[in-house]
Amino acid sequence: MRSAHQLIPVSDLRELNLVEESFGYYKLQVSESNPLGKRAVFKCKDTSISEVFGYLLAQLLGVPVAEFQGVWFEKEVKLPGGYVASANHLGILIEVIPNLCLISMEQLATRDKALVAKLLSFYFFARYEWPQAFCSPTSSYVLDLERIGPVMLVDELECTLGKDIGEELSFREDEYSQTSQDYLKQILCYANELHVEGELCEEFQLISRISRETFQQNLAVKGHPYSHLLSSSFLSAVTKRQEAISQGRIGTRPSP
Ligand SMILES: Nc1ncnc2c1ncn2[C@@H]1O[C@H](COP(=O)(O)OP(=O)(O)OP(=O)(O)O)[C@@H](O)[C@H]1O
Ligand SMILES: [Mg+2]
Repeated sequence: MRSAHQLIPVSDLRELNLVEESFGYYKLQVSESNPLGKRAVFKCKDTSISEVFGYLLAQLLGVPVAEFQGVWFEKEVKLPGGYVASANHLGILIEVIPNLCLISMEQLATRDKALVAKLLSFYFFARYEWPQAFCSPTSSYVLDLERIGPVMLVDELECTLGKDIGEELSFREDEYSQTSQDYLKQILCYANELHVEGELCEEFQLISRISRETFQQNLAVKGHPYSHLLSSSFLSAVTKRQEAISQGRIGTRPSP
């Protein structure tokens, strides 16, 4: 059975059957038959690795997202549109949701305060630029999760191989965790403007109680040459940001 934690190797771009389609102003690659098993947008850029982890975190926190599947290239590929993905590079397949309309947080707050609070608690884990909320005729979705967590570039890790990758990743984690309190302030301030402080506080309480084991089980990827390194780096960064919630006296400390 398919698992979102298992990154699937792709040896030939033809395995993804890509065609270009327009989504408003955007032109994105769409795949009809692929490892996800349904019609999917294919995103492959420097930040795709972050988007895969972003989807895993969103699922854990109960944020409404489309189905997804991470893949990686066993050798360099030239993608339509001129982007060259080097060996080990990640891409992500995301189920196409028909008839999506972008919705602002202000609009959403008039309909569903609990959802807005959940989204804000998730956006707290961004490094900059938040994901976007959409409504379909039947549901709400969050898309564009490529700025969740610390910077994690597989190409750069390749260059660092032979040097100390651990050091490189921990530098990225520090960079991310140093901005935690500023991020917390920003999120709290926005929650205040949207009148969802109480709901946000409840979401933060829930997040602060997530144990390290639960994070570890839910945020790990497998099947890629650097799976272990990438998973432990993302885990470490996310738990450092989680600590900022307790330090901000919004939630309680996670149980040991
Ligand atoms: N799975 C999907 N189903 C339906 N529409 C989608 C899906 N993914 C993306 N879109 C549409 O395409 C647009 C661009 O998607 P997305 O923001 O994920 O791409 P991006 O390359 O990261 O863009 P940007 O560079 O602006 O961040 C979205 O705003 C949305 O309208
Ligand atoms: Mg984007």
